[in-house]
Amino acid sequence: MTTTLNSETLELDATRTVAERLQDMLAEDLAATEALLLERSKSPVAVIPDLSDYIVSAGGKRLRPIVTLAAARAVGNTGHGTHALAAAVEFIHTATLLHDDVVDNSDLRRGKKAAKKIWGNSASILVGDFLFARAFTLMVETGSLEILNILSSASSVIAEGEVRQLQATGKKDLAASDYMAIIEAKTAALFEAAARAGALSAGSEKYAESLAQFGRNLGLAFQIVDDALDYGGTTAIIGKQVGDDFREGKITLPVIIARQRASAEDKIFWDRALSVETQTAQDLSHAIHLIRASGAMEATAEAALDYLDLAKQALRHLPDNEWVRSLSDLADYCGERIN
Ligand code: IPE
Ligand code: IPE
Ligand code: MG
Ligand code: MG
Repeated sequence: MTTTLNSETLELDATRTVAERLQDMLAEDLAATEALLLERSKSPVAVIPDLSDYIVSAGGKRLRPIVTLAAARAVGNTGHGTHALAAAVEFIHTATLLHDDVVDNSDLRRGKKAAKKIWGNSASILVGDFLFARAFTLMVETGSLEILNILSSASSVIAEGEVRQLQATGKKDLAASDYMAIIEAKTAALFEAAARAGALSAGSEKYAESLAQFGRNLGLAFQIVDDALDYGGTTAIIGKQVGDDFREGKITLPVIIARQRASAEDKIFWDRALSVETQTAQDLSHAIHLIRASGAMEATAEAALDYLDLAKQALRHLPDNEWVRSLSDLADYCGERIN
């Protein structure tokens, strides 16, 4: 069952080999994690497992639990604690996606109708809350207050990032540093926590900081790539609607760079098109054209690659083993998604 779920999802992605190989290496750990995801979404209130199983079995790349499990393997052994942690991390991620599609008004997720299109906004938010709560029960099962502290801090930082981004909606002159602060909070914090707590769950204090730096930089790069794909990808590959960020007036790195490089005339375009009130249906294709023509797409890709280099540098502090090498491959995989 596990393999089916994940391979289905990975078919959304052209470059599936690295992630697939990691899934093979982690097959037993991932099976235990998937079993927990299914078991812990059970509830006598039918809409909860219905909605939750819908989004969980729609797949997803399982990148964050993969980071947790591979980080643990890189420095020690896995057991129920690591599996519970990996499931908690994926539940937190799933909860943020359920909330995010309401906030972002997105209709497509993981190649399927967003849950809110089927069950409505309220159920989507409430089931997200349920999964958040279940994540905390799973964290308690790791038996580590330190892990509980890492994941609960990351959860509040993610929420801060989402609120910060909400406040930045339509802010045409958003600075690149503000964008970085947003993605650091909404995305990198969970990758960082997943890697750090993964190491700790396998009993390694020594390498936790290096793995955390790996996770943080991978997370930053991952979000930058995701934001580039919102202009440069296709729905078939990303399983989401292209242009959602643009339609919502969400200012991301490709736009920040393209706007910085824009002529006076193009700046007028950006300032009009980035206001949801004045945006027209044709604006997305012109925005994509400007992002490409100005070299902003390449510059965005370069920024992502710089963070992936930092992620890989952090791995140099770790012993050389197949797990560390596979984490490095995972960083390359995230970079390849942009091509
Ligand atoms: C989506 O994350 C949210 C972002 C941080 C961009 P993923 O692309 O990892 O989502 P799934 O789990 O594979 O669907
Ligand atoms: C997803 O962020 C939610 C979090 C990172 C908390 P985005 O809104 O950027 O991601 P997608 O494009 O909907 O997956
Ligand atoms: Mg969002
Ligand atoms: Mg979104």
